[in-house]
Amino acid sequence: MGQPLTEAQAAPASAPYKAFEVAPLAGALGAEISGVDLATLRDDVVWKEILRAFVEYSVLVFPGQKLEAADIMAVGSRFGPPSYYPFVVGMPEFPYIFEIIKEASETRNFGGAWHSDSSYLPSPPLGTLLYALETPSHGGDTLFTSTYAAYDALSEGMKKLVDPLVGVFSAELKYGGGRTHMHKSIGAMEIHDTDKAAEIGAEHPLVRTHLVSGRKALYLSRSHTVSIKGMSEEESKPILEYLIAHQVKPEFTCRVRWAPGTLTVWDNRCTQHNAVNDYHGQRRRMRRLTVGAQRPG
Ligand SMILES: [Fe+2]
Repeated sequence: MGQPLTEAQAAPASAPYKAFEVAPLAGALGAEISGVDLATLRDDVVWKEILRAFVEYSVLVFPGQKLEAADIMAVGSRFGPPSYYPFVVGMPEFPYIFEIIKEASETRNFGGAWHSDSSYLPSPPLGTLLYALETPSHGGDTLFTSTYAAYDALSEGMKKLVDPLVGVFSAELKYGGGRTHMHKSIGAMEIHDTDKAAEIGAEHPLVRTHLVSGRKALYLSRSHTVSIKGMSEEESKPILEYLIAHQVKPEFTCRVRWAPGTLTVWDNRCTQHNAVNDYHGQRRRMRRLTVGAQRPG
């Protein structure tokens, strides 16, 4: 395999895609890619096109793949180095990959609120790969929203207000009753260190600029953003809640429907996602890898 391509090497987004079919999922973001076999893909030219599509669409869906854990690592390496998730035990031979499992007997799911992955870390992962192994007959979709589109739709006055603001982020899931409480009822996943979540946090701009596209995107969530720096939680809340509600308006979103063999890769810098918990009584099992730790700026 060749050297990982950096996104900065990708060509401008205006050129057509030659190596595969691209079917946009919605107006704001997301595209389904067909005509590539990721397990065997070694062609750097094709990978360059995939990275260009990643920057253009923010969420790429590859149905019908056959990926072992080693293949997921190889695909992930094209987007960035693996990033360690602090709260779930990884696979024995692939510690950066962990399985997201909801058993038929369970009612709580993992990731069932709008968020960008691990935004409480000083350098959160730029991308997430999620690969479906077992999916319910219906339901269990993932919603995505474009925080570019959400930022662009703000008034000039609101942009001026939020542009300089810095958010205080915490891993504690304070508004969900605490991470230990939130995770203890997800029985099929091996959780650890949730008692240390309150010690993990960071400060990030509420409006971040994407290093490749140069576009501005909102960067906050109810799950991870506790307050605005320099303001009390009480003062912060109306601004945060306005933006949190605004950024998930339907016209900014797309919906990914899974089947075994679907790999979705998303850009955490300019999207949020929400795992819809509407499939009680059926098992869902996925593998997740995050990549490319990058400090928001
Ligand atoms: Fe997530």
